[in-house]
Amino acid sequence: MGLTYDPRMTADTRDPVPNVRLRLVRPDDIPVLYQHQLDNDANRMAAVHPRDESAFRALWDGVFKQPSIVARAIIADDELVGHITIFNMDGVDGVGYWIAKTHWGRGIATRALTLLLEDVNRRPLHARVAVDNKASIRVLERCGFVVTGYQHSPGTERYVECEEAVLVLE
Ligand SMILES: CC(C)(COP(=O)(O)OP(=O)(O)OC[C@H]1O[C@@H](n2cnc3c(N)ncnc32)[C@H](O)[C@@H]1OP(=O)(O)O)[C@@H](O)C(=O)NCCC(=O)NCCS
Repeated sequence: MGLTYDPRMTADTRDPVPNVRLRLVRPDDIPVLYQHQLDNDANRMAAVHPRDESAFRALWDGVFKQPSIVARAIIADDELVGHITIFNMDGVDGVGYWIAKTHWGRGIATRALTLLLEDVNRRPLHARVAVDNKASIRVLERCGFVVTGYQHSPGTERYVECEEAVLVLE
């Protein structure tokens, strides 16, 4: 998985969780979010192929026009470090998030998902995560999601073929 977490780190030895807040995603965030999603280690973890710039912009143009999609920028100590969304995932509400690699392992995704769940009361929420993406599964489980099964995800232009864990927050 490349640069991820030092297993010797524990909650006691890690830096404290930074001050995390969520706000609406703005069009001027898109170039930064685009850079986040180019990272090879992050793409391997999420089992996806990165989007090129025009596809990424088109995706976000669609998000801005679609009020049912919840999209929040993740701000840690005043820096834009990622984003978190609730979107239509094959007919159900799915949750997704992405943190810039330089900020991994600081508790930011866990905090961001906690804040989103406090703010948005849509339930159930679903997630599908590559089984090797232990960090993401941990984030979801810490926020109350439960693994309900596993499924094979075929390779597509966007997705890398993998086994996925299916999680739900009722
Ligand atoms: C997955 C991702 C969102 C995690 O973000 P993060 O801010 O580093 O997550 P946090 O620091 O809040 O929590 C990570 C948890 O996973 C744990 N973890 C990390 N690697 C692990 C591993 N290999 N095995 C088990 N647990 C692991 C951490 O110890 C931590 O748990 P803890 O706080 O109980 O110790 C981030 O790595 C990322 O954006 N990856 C690329 C995109 C992606 O995978 N998105 C999700 C697609 S489903």
